[in-house]
Amino acid sequence: MDRKALIEEAFKALENSYSPYSNFKVGACILCRDGTLFYGTNIENASYPVTNCAERSAVFACYSRGYREKDIEAIAIVSNGARISAPCGACRQVLCELLEPLTPIYLSNGTEEMETNIQRLLPMQFNRKDVLG
Ligand code: THU
Repeated sequence: MDRKALIEEAFKALENSYSPYSNFKVGACILCRDGTLFYGTNIENASYPVTNCAERSAVFACYSRGYREKDIEAIAIVSNGARISAPCGACRQVLCELLEPLTPIYLSNGTEEMETNIQRLLPMQFNRKDVLG
């Protein structure tokens, strides 16, 4: 599956966004090396901070099925925003724990697309090397 197809899958997840407070819809789709796809969307809450972002939903679903960072080929994260939106700070910290540093992260808002990775999005990480040595 190429970048364009994975982005299309992420837009399918976006359709399931539960975002009555922000109306900002985000979708994510993870492609595993064996071809398995995991979807995530943003799930908001009346208690705003309890909201779960799309990319965290997707990566937690992926890990919950036993897949690990080496099994992940790429992730697409898409939104209905006016410009491409990159993962929030909390999601960057989660992605730096659960993705390999150079795993492709495709971002799109339907009109623009770009490719990045968590090493670029979160330089000077606090990660497991700090804790475990
Ligand atoms: N959101 C995500 O799903 N991912 C991000 O990385 C940025 C923010 C969601 C959370 C909330 O439901 C909405 O976008 C507006 O902040």
